[in-house]
Amino acid sequence: MLKLAVLVSGGGTNLQAILDSIADGRITNARIVTVISNNKNAYALERARRAGIPAQCICPGDCGSRERFYDALLEALESSGADLVVLAGCMVVMPEKIVKKYENRMINIHPALIPSFCGKDYYGLRVHEAVLGRGVKVTGATVHFVDQGTDTGPIILQKAVGVRPGDTPETLQRRVMEEAEWVIMPQAIDLIANGKIKVENGLVTER
Ligand code: GAR
Repeated sequence: MLKLAVLVSGGGTNLQAILDSIADGRITNARIVTVISNNKNAYALERARRAGIPAQCICPGDCGSRERFYDALLEALESSGADLVVLAGCMVVMPEKIVKKYENRMINIHPALIPSFCGKDYYGLRVHEAVLGRGVKVTGATVHFVDQGTDTGPIILQKAVGVRPGDTPETLQRRVMEEAEWVIMPQAIDLIANGKIKVENGLVTER
């Protein structure tokens, strides 16, 4: 059984999709051992507690320095015994030592079709603002392994979502979540939990 540590920062709808998928069998062979937030007000923490999953906040502000925050995060991940770290709406850029420790064992959901609208300045609603600002007709979401870059790791799954006339960043964000994120995040976890994919030369292939 693959042990998951889910890292969150906000509403936690992707966490909820994972919880629901484990409950209804769309994800098999996996369970969540811990939920960690960098933000004490994240509703995701409440979702975890309601599901009876150990949840904790590790806030940069309480740690004294960025280095100590990263150390506390790494310690919490290690002591959870997690096999896979899932960044489910986690707005913390992972430092080298955590990325190295979880090489090919950490995944992230990004709300666009990488390599479009990704990288340092693209997160949350900003992504959808940029998509509408550029006038693209198709966007979507991507699940990828995390490497040393921002949104540059091996791509596991992508799903396209059409942009509609009259979309606002908020309506587009919601549709990308419903039609893409909440579908491909659970699928990616299920593929990993059941040993169906491997990473070779920076690319994800089926086993
Ligand atoms: C999601 O749209 C996720 O793709 C995005 O933040 C949102 C979190 O929502 N992540 C990023 O932008 C990471 N670069 P949630 O807390 O409801 O799952």
